[in-house]
Amino acid sequence: MLWVKAFHVVFMVAWFAGLFYLPRLFVYHAQATDALSHERFKVMERKLYRGIMTPSMVLTLGFGLWLWLGFGITGTWLHAKVAVVVLLVAHHFWLGHLVKVFARDSNERSHVFYRWINEIPLLYLVAIVVLVVVKPF
Ligand code: HEM
Repeated sequence: MLWVKAFHVVFMVAWFAGLFYLPRLFVYHAQATDALSHERFKVMERKLYRGIMTPSMVLTLGFGLWLWLGFGITGTWLHAKVAVVVLLVAHHFWLGHLVKVFARDSNERSHVFYRWINEIPLLYLVAIVVLVVVKPF
């Protein structure tokens, strides 16, 4: 069980690294004025989202479900955790939609908007880690 939990946490860290870094790329991309920079950011965003974030999300969820359904670790805290994770997965797919918006050169939002988006994963991280470590209910 501990090996499963270890890999659950490893892929969670990789997923969150992308959840924090991708909006940062959007900040610089929204400020870019030359075509070369635009093309460079498109490649970085696509590779980060498809090559790191999405596989890490799938593995985090897979190992989490294995801990829950395979080893029977459960409780009200876990149901609340899964509810927050569902919102986080929706946030992940929204970021994926934004990757496509930038790829079409049709972004209309300013870098300030993406600086705020950059902070959102922290709220999810605090909520999920408190629920699973403290198990308040
Ligand atoms: C479907 C989604 C998920 C399920 C079903 C799930 C389930 C679980 C379960 C059953 C444990 C073991 C808890 C224990 O042994 O006390 C665990 C541990 C953990 N989970 Fe998840 N998890 C999910 C997603 C996530 C996500 C997105 C994060 C991101 C922050 C996360 C962070 C952690 C951490 C840090 C631990 C280790 C806690 C400890 O050792 O005290 N999990 N998870």
